Amino acid sequence: MHIDLVDRDRYATSGPPHDQFAWLRAHSPVHRHDGEPGFWAVTRYEDVVHVSRHSDLFSSSRRLALFDEMPEEQRAFQRMMMLNQDPPEHTRRRSLVNRGFTPRTIGALESHIRDICDDLLDQCDDEVDFVTQVAAPLPLFVICELLGAPVEDRDKLFTWSNRMIGAQDPDYASSPEEGSSAAMEVYAYANQLAAQRKANPRNDIVTKLIQPDEHGETLDENEFDLFVLLLVVAGNETTRNAASGGMLALFEHPEQWDRLVADPGLAATAADEIVRWVSPVNMFRRTSTRDQVLGGQQIKEDDKVVVFYSSANRDTSVFPDGGVFDIGRNPNPHIGFGGGGAHFCLGNHLAKLELRVLFEQLARRYPRIRRTGPARRLRSNFINGIKELPVTLG
Ligand code: HEM
Repeated sequence: MHIDLVDRDRYATSGPPHDQFAWLRAHSPVHRHDGEPGFWAVTRYEDVVHVSRHSDLFSSSRRLALFDEMPEEQRAFQRMMMLNQDPPEHTRRRSLVNRGFTPRTIGALESHIRDICDDLLDQCDDEVDFVTQVAAPLPLFVICELLGAPVEDRDKLFTWSNRMIGAQDPDYASSPEEGSSAAMEVYAYANQLAAQRKANPRNDIVTKLIQPDEHGETLDENEFDLFVLLLVVAGNETTRNAASGGMLALFEHPEQWDRLVADPGLAATAADEIVRWVSPVNMFRRTSTRDQVLGGQQIKEDDKVVVFYSSANRDTSVFPDGGVFDIGRNPNPHIGFGGGGAHFCLGNHLAKLELRVLFEQLARRYPRIRRTGPARRLRSNFINGIKELPVTLG
């Protein structure tokens, strides 16, 4: 079989290469992917979990993106983010920010998220693009709520976030330079926000994060600003594509939509199944810290190792019916938020809450929603995304 797991045109036309993933899991689970860049493709669930849980063997900091084509200034920024750090540096920061993302803190946002969903749906005409009107603004507005950013700043943050996202897909109008300048603006905005909360503390997450923890440790100014930037990057595109990919999956499986309409309470298990099925983050890169054997292959120090969540989430050794979209699936040990270990998605409770509330509201308010045109996919091998999904709300 011809293997090319990074062909962006393929992702743009038909989504992740599930046929190739299935073949690799069966015949070459840790596969030397030739070409530029060369890397080891890890496709089985068990191996993805192993790599994710061993930061000492597979580093997140040694080198960054799969394609090392970033301008140096952007790379310097990236290097400072928690996502691209290893323990112990990572551990300190992560434990400081964990305070803002406990299930309890996030659960308290539910009624706000419900209001945001209702407002977005109220503003929709009958015929809309689901991505621009619903899936894209939802996570950004929720992050604004989380940060306590004033409502009038939402549009500004939304534009910055779109410019950053747009910089990754040549089909969008935005350029890499625009992406970098938007990142600088978010960074400066975070700085102002922290200054305001220092002067006038409130009962919110920003105030909590800039205060010392019980050991007297605190995020410094630069760390806080970078963290807000990471939230905007990590929390937005992922969730928007889970929402639009989930909507598309429900259109493609009308019997599952009917189940949800009959019992909107299924939205909780549906949220997890959507993350498994869509795997909004297709893959992540690590770097081998030593010569070692993985899946019977001899990996060398400094080799690039890429874990494919989209593949692991359909591994039949864990999901015997992995090719079936089942919104009632329970248990659902998917690894769409990462394979466990140090970097496991900080926002997983928040993302699931957003998806649950959104699909519950949609099923209750618009049981006859339907697609009016083809979905357009993002030309990206990193994010399994949808750019456009025309619908009529019915
Ligand atoms: C990390 C997926 C939503 C914040 C990650 C990772 C994945 C992921 C795969 C990397 C895991 C690893 O390397 O082991 C997703 C998906 C989402 C989502 C599929 C939506 C469906 C969010 C949201 C936020 C968020 C809503 C915050 C508001 C983060 C952060 C990290 C992260 C800060 C880095 C954690 C660290 O390095 O310690 N996410 N994410 N994510 N995510 Fe999410």
